[in-house]
Amino acid sequence: MKTSHSYPFFGPEGYDGLDVLLQELAPTKTFLLVDSNTVNCLSVFVPKLAQLDAEFEVLEVPPGEESKSLEVAANLWSVLLEYGADRNSLIINVGGGVICDLGAFIASTYKRGISFINVPTSLLAMVDASVGGKNGINFEGLKNQLGSFTQPNFVLVDPDFLVTLPQKEWESGHAEMLKHALLSGERWLELLALEPESLALHDIEQSIAFKAEIVREDFKENGKRKMLNLGHTTGHAWESFSAASGKPCTHGAAVIQGLHVALILSGLPEEQSALAQRYPWQLVEEEALQPLWERQLQDKKNANGEVRYVLLARFGAPVWDVEITLERWTQAVLALNSAL
Ligand code: GLY
Repeated sequence: MKTSHSYPFFGPEGYDGLDVLLQELAPTKTFLLVDSNTVNCLSVFVPKLAQLDAEFEVLEVPPGEESKSLEVAANLWSVLLEYGADRNSLIINVGGGVICDLGAFIASTYKRGISFINVPTSLLAMVDASVGGKNGINFEGLKNQLGSFTQPNFVLVDPDFLVTLPQKEWESGHAEMLKHALLSGERWLELLALEPESLALHDIEQSIAFKAEIVREDFKENGKRKMLNLGHTTGHAWESFSAASGKPCTHGAAVIQGLHVALILSGLPEEQSALAQRYPWQLVEEEALQPLWERQLQDKKNANGEVRYVLLARFGAPVWDVEITLERWTQAVLALNSAL
């Protein structure tokens, strides 16, 4: 049986482990999926691997959320067919959340599933998308509507990729780390104070370890994994609404909005104001309330047509499947607006 490692390997040992896995998988064809920003990362990644010789093809897609589409997916499946990719082929996703989500989706569906490896190049992808086996593309203007739960064969976290990470991308990953801190009740104020230049590999490892443990206990999100959606109900709605309004924001910036709402709904004003000092609430215009609510009605976590939230019974004590009405949600948003 072929080895599979869904828990990340870090730094130099990660490359050694990946070399061993590549030897073992002995793929018939290897594809490196990148976008036009992360194609540069190949000059860091490829030379560190003895097993990756010239026998690979680079598949490049445009950067950004638009690439998580049926059109881009269909194009990639066609290209794999044209190259004669078979069930022993391998896709290595070198990029941020979009590349990891898209590449894993392509790999998990092509010929009923081929091997794939995630090499996250952004902080956001390191602490979230690359770990946990969720993949997907967007559909009908809604995020991650098509996808599956499929663990990668390997995840490699190399902090060298973060050296040139833009500030807003750093903040996007920071938002998910803050979410983990609120859920675990550990290192909240310490992580809130974190700046990119003081980020240590150890901080990333701790954040990933928290998520990986939840995933290990509930891979298919039947119960406790739902907690990882803290801040994501309002967050996903805000992200797609902002994009539709021509003012796209990062995933993390949208999650911050969602965390503000979740903290208010959880009755945790102290944590909310600590968050606001670092990442202020962005005003929600009155005319945005209805479209934002409609988007939340489409959330995958809902049941019986009710909007279900993850909240905190207290700091570090998540509860999920909490029904939130339009009225309660509107009150929370208006309270945040009026505190500005
Ligand atoms: N991003 C949430 C999860 O992986 O479950």
